[in-house]
Amino acid sequence: MLHVVILAAGKGTRMNSALPKVLHRAAGTPLIDYALTAAATLQPSSTTIVVGHQASALRSELEGRGGLTFVVQEPQLGTAHALMCTEPVLRGAHGTLVMLSGDVPLLSADTLKTLVHRHTATRAAATVVTAIVPEPHGYGRIVRSGERIARIVEERDASPAERAICEINSGIYAFALEGLFDALRAIAAENAQGEYYLPDLVAIYRKRGLDVETISVADPNEIRGVNSRAELAEVSAIVRTQRNAALMAAGVTLEDPATTYVGGDVEVGRDTIIHPGVTLEGRTVVGAGCEIRSGVRIVDSRLGDRVTVLDHSLIVASEVGADARIGPFAHFRGQVTLADGSRVGNFVELKNTTLGAGSKAMHLAYLGDATIGSRVNIGAGTITCNYDGTKKNPTVIEDGAFIGSDSQLVAPVTVGAGAYVGSGATIRDNVPAGALAVSAGKQRNIEGWAEERKKKRRL
Ligand code: UD1
Ligand code: MG
Repeated sequence: MLHVVILAAGKGTRMNSALPKVLHRAAGTPLIDYALTAAATLQPSSTTIVVGHQASALRSELEGRGGLTFVVQEPQLGTAHALMCTEPVLRGAHGTLVMLSGDVPLLSADTLKTLVHRHTATRAAATVVTAIVPEPHGYGRIVRSGERIARIVEERDASPAERAICEINSGIYAFALEGLFDALRAIAAENAQGEYYLPDLVAIYRKRGLDVETISVADPNEIRGVNSRAELAEVSAIVRTQRNAALMAAGVTLEDPATTYVGGDVEVGRDTIIHPGVTLEGRTVVGAGCEIRSGVRIVDSRLGDRVTVLDHSLIVASEVGADARIGPFAHFRGQVTLADGSRVGNFVELKNTTLGAGSKAMHLAYLGDATIGSRVNIGAGTITCNYDGTKKNPTVIEDGAFIGSDSQLVAPVTVGAGAYVGSGATIRDNVPAGALAVSAGKQRNIEGWAEERKKKRRL
């Protein structure tokens, strides 16, 4: 049996934040989700999260994830005390306990697998994940006696000679559950911080003649802890680099990977070209052969193949068919559906609107709560007046209709198939199929008016 405990009760003082540390996002994903995803690959019998500082905020955020047990550590007296708090949940459990930190997001599933494998194969009482790093500052150091680990000493309690050690404690361990909680009770808080340090368990076990093993990660980035915003940014950059490398290997061109922000759940098709400064978030799927120009942000949306999105467009919760062309400066506010080959140009805002195949809205329009058929032309400056001050009303524009520029369609209203709306019209009543609707007044020209005005001014 394998059980997972994730520590997330610490204050995260160095984040200087009202938000719990593990809810801060690295490359768009909350820190805690990295730990949960890695833990899930072990298919544990239970996953317990130790919460304390801002426990309720954390709990309400995580409760939806399902399958998690929460334990509150109050007050927070150190990492050993945190693990101790899980005793009521794990009492009577057998086998292996894998302990992760909620603030160590880059740990790979492979490393976890190796940890469990080594721990069970050697039947060790504890196995510690370590790394050799050039800058060990801030981490607990691995003190060895010969080949074997003897103890772990925290930075603040280390002698100058110990501080020179470059092998560090990742804060990730596997423990044999048998006897674990009894041994934790032997840990004292006699150190610079007056806290109960979990790493002290190593010395206790070794003194009792129990076996403590280590595994060392080849890439020290894996065990990087996030304690500050600067470290959060560093970790984000590493995640981004990894994701972008995977995208490029899958046949996506990134003109500038350093400024390309693609979320962990995003999919992008082959031969799509992504220009600098593009952000793809949430459950976004971009088809093959698309071109996404600079400054575009796409959230929770699906784009078909060969779609072009020109510069500085924002697309949220929308569906875009193949060969569509969008932007520059288009805004899809949500629930927008574009059929194949349709076009939306600059300064056009759409919300809860369907645009049929081959239809166009090229300039300066607001289309909200509208169902627009195929081959419809929406002229510049068209506005669906969908809100009457109380509720939203629908507009229907049937196939092949032509809406002249600067028209207002006062919903609820329908423009029939093939109908024309003259420029500058205010359409309050339905337009029958094939009709022309005009509502602007008749034009009047006053001959010589400009010359008369000049004369008057001179007087
Ligand atoms: C810890 C280790 C250190 C290791 C480093 C790796 C200890 C004493 N030191 O130091 O050897 O090199 O991690 O990143 O363990 N937490 C609680 N309750 C508490 C205290 C902490 O849940 O009372 C949680 C924190 O939220 C965090 C984790 O434990 O997720 C580690 O705590 P942190 O304060 O970050 O320890 P470090 O100083 O980084
Ligand atoms: Mg830490």
